[in-house]
Amino acid sequence: MANTVIIGAQWGDEGKGKIVDMLSAESDLIVRFQGGNNAGHTIKVDGRETILHLIPSGILHENKVCLIGNGVVLDPEVFLTEVDALAAKGVDVSPARLGISPKTHLILPYHKAMDQAREAKRAGKKIGTTGRGIGPCYEDKVARIGVRAGDLAQPDLLREKVRHALLEKNVLLRDLYHFPVLDADEVVSTLLAQAERLTPYLTDVSAAIQKAQNAGQDILFEGAQGIHLDVDHGTYPYVTSSNTVASSAAAGSGVGPRALDRILGIVKAYTTRVGSGPFPTELEDDTGNYLRTQGHEFGATTGRPRRCGWLDTVVLRETVRLNSMTDMALTKLDVLRGLPALRICVAYELDGQRLEYMPQMEGALGRVTPIYEELPGFDEDISDCTSYDQLPQPVRDYITRIEELSGVRVSIVSVGPDRKATMVR
Ligand code: IMP
Repeated sequence: MANTVIIGAQWGDEGKGKIVDMLSAESDLIVRFQGGNNAGHTIKVDGRETILHLIPSGILHENKVCLIGNGVVLDPEVFLTEVDALAAKGVDVSPARLGISPKTHLILPYHKAMDQAREAKRAGKKIGTTGRGIGPCYEDKVARIGVRAGDLAQPDLLREKVRHALLEKNVLLRDLYHFPVLDADEVVSTLLAQAERLTPYLTDVSAAIQKAQNAGQDILFEGAQGIHLDVDHGTYPYVTSSNTVASSAAAGSGVGPRALDRILGIVKAYTTRVGSGPFPTELEDDTGNYLRTQGHEFGATTGRPRRCGWLDTVVLRETVRLNSMTDMALTKLDVLRGLPALRICVAYELDGQRLEYMPQMEGALGRVTPIYEELPGFDEDISDCTSYDQLPQPVRDYITRIEELSGVRVSIVSVGPDRKATMVR
């Protein structure tokens, strides 16, 4: 197997966790390169469900090494909680199998406070963030005042950085947002207590990847969120604060772009979105409710109901282009069962013009009208199908049409949450 980057092709929640889990079995090293615990990957093995927000899903496979790259933002408390929860399930989470780059930025209590304070203040213009402090942490990184995992081993530097950051944050929290201020010494003492458990995980991630490459090992880069939440290429400002595109796997882990061979896009058979922002194929009707109920479309991180709609191949074509996507995994096909017809958005209309790609100007996506094609639905239970040939003709036609409209081959088909409900073509 070549080195693979897994990306969410839509707005996140495409079912990446399951495919990452499956491909982890064939990889030696699994690396996360962006985002933080705003993600939520649900993996079901033998009926037991595990939700991971931060630690790469590959940890559930014995003998695999998992790394958290410099592009991730890490909440120390969440990391340790996940370590403890996995250990309680008998999973080996020792530093021999799990590493954090010293360059990974830490999400601190003031980042969470700022995230929540800002969203509260935005009133009608909320981004609908997960409230996990993701944006404010990336802001500090770019402002060059961030605290990094490696600083945990240097208490003086840590103290100086936290004090400096809080000088500004406390003014904003108190005077602008009317939120409680934070005490620098308290923040530092909590961090130093966590440091004892965290510092053994510090690893030169870039060097570890290079070593694995030299040994001919296969590496899986596990993306979080979705391409249209990318801070540059997504539906700005309704995006997350990291680059979710495949190329950030290189910058976010410390390798060059030549290390990335296969770019596998995970595509849900319909579309969902959590939080605010334009969503051309959204269904605010019974069909939307049907998809939400059948697909259990409630956030793994926040529990929020997800907005649901038809599959949008304009969105998909944009994803193919932005990521040099090589192939795709189509997930949750079983959810479409029982719908009399399946609609696929093939293009948009904007100001009397037909668009094959997403408009580039801010706000324009909110004004497009989707142009649909309709295909027959299916009533058969496909969750037991184990090979592509067993799928009913309407399902195969749906897949073929997606391939035609996106220009990319569907290499994996998923028809249920369990590891077994997956077909590799
Ligand atoms: P943030 O990443 O918490 O700042 O949230 C920014 C936007 O990205 C919001 O609309 C969130 O709902 C969305 N978002 C963040 N992480 C995920 C994810 O893992 N899946 C789906 N949406 C996400």
